[in-house]
Amino acid sequence: MENKPPSLDTLSFLIFILSFNIFTINRAMAQKATIRVKVGVVLDMDHYVGQMGLDCISIALSDFYATHDYYKTRLVLNNRNSNRDVVGAAAAALDLLKNVEVQAIIGPFSSVQANFMINLGDKAHVPIITFSATSPSLSSFRSPYFIRAALNDSSQVQAISAIIQAFGWRKVVPIYVDNEFGEGIIPFLTDALEKVNARVPYRSVIPSLATDDHIIAELYKLMTMQTRVFIVHMMPTLASRLFTKAKQLGMMSQEYAWIITDGITNELNSLDRSVMESMLGVIGVQPYIPKTEQLQNFTIRYEKKLLQNNPTALSLNLNIFGLWAYDSAIALAMAVEKARVTNAAFLKANISRNSTDLDGFGVSSAGPGLIRALSTTAFRGLFGKFKLIDGQLQSPPYQIVNVIGPGARVVGYWTKENGIVRELNFANTNTYSTSKSNIGSIIWPGDKTSPPKGWMIPTNRKKLRVGIPLNDAFSKFVRVVRNSDNSAEVGGYCIDVFDAVVEALPYGVPYEYIPFAASDHNSTGNYNDLAIQVYTGNFDAVVGDITIIANRSQYVDFTLPYTESGVSMVVPIKDDKSKNAWIFLRPLTWELWLTSFCSFIFIGFLIWILEHRTNEDFRGPPWHQVGMIFWFAFSTMVFAHKERVISNLARFVLIIWFLVVLILTQSYTASLTSMLTVQQLHPTITDVNELIKNNEYVGYQNGSFVFELLKDMGFHESRLLAFNSPDELYELFSKGSRNGGIAAVIDEIPYMKLFLAKYCSKYTMVGPTYKTGGFGFVFPKGSPPVPDISRAILEVTESKKMMTIEKKWLGDETKCPDSSTLISSSSIGLESFWGLFLMVGIAAVSAFIIYVIKFLHENRHVMYRSDPHSTIWSKTTELLQRFNNRDLSSHTFKKTERREGDNRSDCILRVIESPNEHFQLSPSSFPLTSPRTNGPPSPAFSSPKSQNVVFQAEQDSSLENKFKMTQGEAPQVIIQEI
Ligand SMILES: *[C@@H]1O[C@H](CO)[C@@H](O)[C@H](O)[C@H]1NC(C)=O
Ligand SMILES: *[C@@H]1O[C@H](CO)[C@@H](O)[C@H](O)[C@H]1NC(C)=O
Ligand SMILES: *[C@@H]1O[C@H](CO)[C@@H](O)[C@H](O)[C@H]1NC(C)=O
Repeated sequence: MENKPPSLDTLSFLIFILSFNIFTINRAMAQKATIRVKVGVVLDMDHYVGQMGLDCISIALSDFYATHDYYKTRLVLNNRNSNRDVVGAAAAALDLLKNVEVQAIIGPFSSVQANFMINLGDKAHVPIITFSATSPSLSSFRSPYFIRAALNDSSQVQAISAIIQAFGWRKVVPIYVDNEFGEGIIPFLTDALEKVNARVPYRSVIPSLATDDHIIAELYKLMTMQTRVFIVHMMPTLASRLFTKAKQLGMMSQEYAWIITDGITNELNSLDRSVMESMLGVIGVQPYIPKTEQLQNFTIRYEKKLLQNNPTALSLNLNIFGLWAYDSAIALAMAVEKARVTNAAFLKANISRNSTDLDGFGVSSAGPGLIRALSTTAFRGLFGKFKLIDGQLQSPPYQIVNVIGPGARVVGYWTKENGIVRELNFANTNTYSTSKSNIGSIIWPGDKTSPPKGWMIPTNRKKLRVGIPLNDAFSKFVRVVRNSDNSAEVGGYCIDVFDAVVEALPYGVPYEYIPFAASDHNSTGNYNDLAIQVYTGNFDAVVGDITIIANRSQYVDFTLPYTESGVSMVVPIKDDKSKNAWIFLRPLTWELWLTSFCSFIFIGFLIWILEHRTNEDFRGPPWHQVGMIFWFAFSTMVFAHKERVISNLARFVLIIWFLVVLILTQSYTASLTSMLTVQQLHPTITDVNELIKNNEYVGYQNGSFVFELLKDMGFHESRLLAFNSPDELYELFSKGSRNGGIAAVIDEIPYMKLFLAKYCSKYTMVGPTYKTGGFGFVFPKGSPPVPDISRAILEVTESKKMMTIEKKWLGDETKCPDSSTLISSSSIGLESFWGLFLMVGIAAVSAFIIYVIKFLHENRHVMYRSDPHSTIWSKTTELLQRFNNRDLSSHTFKKTERREGDNRSDCILRVIESPNEHFQLSPSSFPLTSPRTNGPPSPAFSSPKSQNVVFQAEQDSSLENKFKMTQGEAPQVIIQEI
């Protein structure tokens, strides 16, 4: 090896030198070929986030060009410090645009500095890319040259409102800094809260340069208010001071809930230890960053670089702004390459001599191309997918964190699609839900594990001040008894109910009753005035017999009612037993009376038709027969008819008729009985209009809203008399409407029931019920406990407890008869019975038709007689004649048996024809009593031919059988009854 020729060494050295030279020349040529694009960076360099942003940008560029050395462009950074100043940022931007003529600016640092810079960029057609100005108000400038490589603040409001909804808070107070950053979120936040039924009763604005005293004063103000849920949206520096002071004032204790926006949450790990300690139990939201390998590598490199540059640096942790700065630098580098930006000078503006410095810059010719390239740039960055829509990043899922000890713990996530979820599972397709159970266990302020209810009785008053009315009239509802030492003892139905309701609440509420009275202990106003006291803030609530009505609910909120609701009328009961002589007519209506009467006549007539030819009872002189029709018909009413009915048709009709009569009389009796016993007591008046028409006096309770109601109904004011107590009401009733008293009283049902419980034998509740809301408790409008109390009221009213309270104060209502039964008994009408009448009618008509057919059939020889002398008229007359006569073929006229006690009837016989001159009638066989023609009766007599003989014959004896001739041969006698 030592023998190597030196020439070879020299040669190889030369070759080495040569090749090195060629390499370096090539490199230099390659470097010369890259275009150096000037880019401005405007940040608060003395702020650690600004410094971090700058570091991340430079790391990003060196990383990027190391892997993309074929790029023809290289970004050259021109850094400017905006010095935490709006003017500083504007001046820096102006300088970059005018003197350096940069192609793009990364910045501004904060939302406050953004407005003017955005306008400058718009004018110069230079893209302004921010990674740290998050106020949503900025995008409203709609400058096409403004790019936000960060999330705007409004993308988190839905996550916050989902938390509010999950814990059921109804009122929320935002605390925010008084600048563009703080205000920008407020419209979006209130809209989102509105959607979950949460109200913002107050907004706490803190100046960005607030002194400690100012912060303390504001916090004290918040303590006096009811709401205990706060959303803090400000820069971390101000928030640190706020939480430190809040801790000192005891506002980081149980019953408080604090929520911080991502502006603070993102920088939690850079806050002081002491600040973190005072923030224990706070809940925060922040964008979710996927933990990738790329991110991990970067974090290590970043920390290494940080320690190289500044070995004394305390643990300044990388946060999301650093990632956004890194991503925006890479996006810009890619876009510049894509748009082939050259370093062409700006088109100069026409500068007049008089122009100021401000508008003395030109317009970038590369701007439009660059902004187009930027908005289509997409790559996978540290924060996830970098893709701009409308010049902004799209919102990722948010994570919900809970500050515990030195750090924050993730307790859940929020996504647009699924709401609050315990774990992020991107395949989840469940519906949107904001259930509390999806959030992990949270340590709340004051080391509590259960969520605060979100409101509190203001701490400057330790107890809820509950106003109660002084109602001497019905002291059973609310009773206030003054002790000698001027303390008030409170009791009554409403008080007991409220006590029970508060007991049923899931949390304790201290309260005290304050009678609504002036110093003289008399009521100082009516119930409307009392409700207004809640509206004006003198009371926190009102408990008592206050009715829920629309007018009052305009000023206050009512809970659900806890009593029966409505307004009704009470009138005296009248006993009219002695006054009605015609009550016996009342059980039936006149139509039914009339129908019944006609039916009786009709049935009597029909029976006469069916019977009179065969039945001696229905015979006799015409007037006797007419009398019989009526007599017979009406005697069936009590089933007292003595006449026997012979024909089957008549019997058939009568059976059905008896059924009708039975039902009719029974119904009549029942109805009359009920009228005579029950209806003796009935209300004097049943209708309100009757009162108005008759100009009667009507009572109302003093101070009650019923007075207005009565006036609306049409009562004249002069006809309304106020009463103050049940006894006074009784007195007014006793006097009567004519003597300065009243005829009726109209009041709420609970009062009237109380009155009736005492005087139920004399008065009754009548008429329609006018709907009102019933009694409810009064709270200020939008008061958070109202839904809880309403729920508790339902619990109490559904339980046995309510019955116990009712029995204790209002007595047993069941003692009084139900008023509705007093006025119900009315007359029986035809409509209840027409079926019966129809039945008997059909039976009667069919019986009549059958009878007529039978009669005509029997006498058909009369009708079909072909006698030239007989006319229709004569035939009809004969038929009628036959109809009028006895039906001798009837079995009734053939009977032989005699019955004792039978009546005898007159009978005129004429001997028409006899072969013998004389014949004898034997008295033994034919007991004649008195032959009318020939003086004293003789045992036998002779009769000339065709001589009229009058004797009395026995009824029901057939004449042929009764004649027995004494002479030998059978006589040829024709006897005709006359
Ligand atoms: C400058 O002014 C001239 C005429 O006054 C006009 O043609 C030109 O477009 C202007 N240039 C710019 C950049 O406004
Ligand atoms: C510039 O200012 C002078 C006076 O200061 C004035 O006379 C002149 O009209 C101005 N020119 C323009 C273009 O405004
Ligand atoms: C804020 O960003 C979200 C997406 O993250 C977007 O939907 C919304 O429109 C933005 N708001 C404003 C005011 O730009």
